Amino acid sequence: MKMSTNSISEEFQIKEQIHQRHYLVNGELKEWKGNTSEVISTISSTPEYAHTVLGSIPDMGEKEALDALDAALGAYDQGQGVWPTMKVKDRIECMESFVEKMKRQREVVVKLLMWEIGKSLPDSQKEFDRTVEYIEDTIEEYKELDRSSAKFQKHQGVYAHIRRGPLGVVLCLGPYNYPLNETFALLIPAIIMGNTTVFKPAKHGVLLITPLLEAFQSSFPKGVVNILFGRGRAVAAPIMQTGKVDVLALIGNSKSANALQDQHPKSNRLRLVLGLEAKNPAIILPDADLDLTIDEVIAGTTSFNGQRCTALKVVYVHEDIKDEFLKRFSKAVDALKFGNPWDDGVKLTPLPEPGKPAYIQELLDDALAKGATVHNKKGGQQSDNYIWPAVLHPVSKDMRVYEEEQFGPIIPVLSFKDISQPLDDMAESNYGQQVSLFGKDVYTLSPLIDTLANLVCRVNLNSSCQRGPDVYPFTGRKDSAQATLSVHDALRSFSIRTFVAFKDNELNNETIEQLLEAKVSNFLSTDYIL
Ligand code: G3H
Repeated sequence: MKMSTNSISEEFQIKEQIHQRHYLVNGELKEWKGNTSEVISTISSTPEYAHTVLGSIPDMGEKEALDALDAALGAYDQGQGVWPTMKVKDRIECMESFVEKMKRQREVVVKLLMWEIGKSLPDSQKEFDRTVEYIEDTIEEYKELDRSSAKFQKHQGVYAHIRRGPLGVVLCLGPYNYPLNETFALLIPAIIMGNTTVFKPAKHGVLLITPLLEAFQSSFPKGVVNILFGRGRAVAAPIMQTGKVDVLALIGNSKSANALQDQHPKSNRLRLVLGLEAKNPAIILPDADLDLTIDEVIAGTTSFNGQRCTALKVVYVHEDIKDEFLKRFSKAVDALKFGNPWDDGVKLTPLPEPGKPAYIQELLDDALAKGATVHNKKGGQQSDNYIWPAVLHPVSKDMRVYEEEQFGPIIPVLSFKDISQPLDDMAESNYGQQVSLFGKDVYTLSPLIDTLANLVCRVNLNSSCQRGPDVYPFTGRKDSAQATLSVHDALRSFSIRTFVAFKDNELNNETIEQLLEAKVSNFLSTDYIL
C-alpha cells in the first residue's frame, strides 16, 4: 500500500505555504501577531514519506474571542442594528454578492480540501459546488418565505402581520469532515435571517477559509460575520461563559456540544442547533438484492473513509445470507483503490488525523481479542497515514467498535436470525439519525419501516445513508441532533416568529394603511420580492 509520492501533477502540488495572519473582527481584517500553529497535511510531497507543511494559523485566545463577540453584539445592537433591521431584499443582495465572490475561489478551496483533510478530488469539488448551490437555494427559499409573510391575517377581530425574525448572536462551529459545506450550512442561514455571528473553523480544514475572508469582509456590514482561529477551548468557551450567545450552532460531537452548553450561565436563553454523532446501521434482510446492497454498503461504510456522521457504522446481516455477503463484501472492500486525493478512481485516501490509524488499530485489537475475525485480506494493513478497512465479524456488544462511533475505516458486521435484535439494539442505542434497510418483500418491509421511522429520522430503502439532497430534513433523535437543518428548515431553526398585531378599528386600520404607504418600516411591509 505504498503511494508513489513523487508524481504529484503540477496543478495539485503545494508551491507556496499559506501563513494566515489575519482574522475578521468588526469588518476589519486584523493582523495577528501572536502565537501560531502549523497546519500539517498527512499527505507527503516527497518520495520518502514525510508530512507536508501547508502553512500556519493564528492561535487566538480569550481577548480576541471577546472582541469578536463584542463586534457581533454591536452589529446586532439589541435588535436595532443595521443588519437585523435591514430589508430582506438588501440582506439577500449582500448574500448574492458573497456567493459570487466565493465562486471565484473554487480552485484554491478544492485544492486545500484535498491537502488539509484528504478528501478526493471529485468529493472536494462536490463539497464546494454543493455549498454554492446551498447558498443559492437558501436565497430562493428566503424569498419564498418572505413572499408568504407579505400579508395580514385576521382572527377574532385581530389582524396580524407575522414574519420570522432573527434570534441574536450565533456562535457557529463546524466539523473537519465537511469544513466548508457543513459549516456554511449553519452560517449562511444564520446570517441571512438577520443574526450576527462569530465563526471558528474546525480543527482541520482551516486554511481553506483564508481565501474567503475577504469575500466575507466586503459583502456584509461590519460585525455581522466575525471569524476567529484557534482551539475551541480557548476561544469558544470564554464566549459562552458571557451568557451573551443566543444560539450555539455546532456540527461535531455531543461531548463538545455539552461542554459548551454547560458554560452558558442562562441555559434557558440558549437555542441549540446541533448535528452530532451517530451510529447508523444497515439492516440486510434475506431477500436483499446482494449486488445493489454491496455497492450501497461499500459507499455507506467507506466514503471519505467512514469520516461522515451519516456513514454506516454497523452492519446487520441476516444469518441466511451472512456467508455470501461477507465473502463478496470483503472482496469488494479489498478492490477499492487507495491513493492521494487527486489520483484517478481513488476511493480510500489518507486520514487527516495523525492518531487515527492507531485508534482504529486499538478498536481492531479489542475486537479480535473478544472473538471477532477480519474477513478481508487487506483489513488492518497500515501505511504511514492509513489503515485499510477491516471487515469484522462476529461483532458483539462488549467490543469497543460496537459502542464507539469509529468515524474511520473499520466495518463491524453482526448477523441476526430475528429482526427484533437490530431493532432492540437501535432502541437501546444513544443515537437515532438514520438507517439503511435492504430487502424486497413489502410485507416484511412495511412493519419495519413503520417502526424504524420512530427510531431514527430517515429510513433509507435499499440505499446508503446520507445527508443530501440538502432540501431534505437533516436531523436525528437522542444524542444525534437538536433542531433540523435543510434549505427550508435551517431558516426556521435560526429565527423566531414575531409579529405585529392590532385590533380591527378605524384608528389602527388607518395607521397601518399609512405605514404601508410610507414604506418606512422594513418589518411591516407587503412588498413582494420576485
Ligand atoms: O458528517 C455528516 C455529514 O452531514 C454527512 O453528509 O451524507 O452528505 O456525507 P453526507
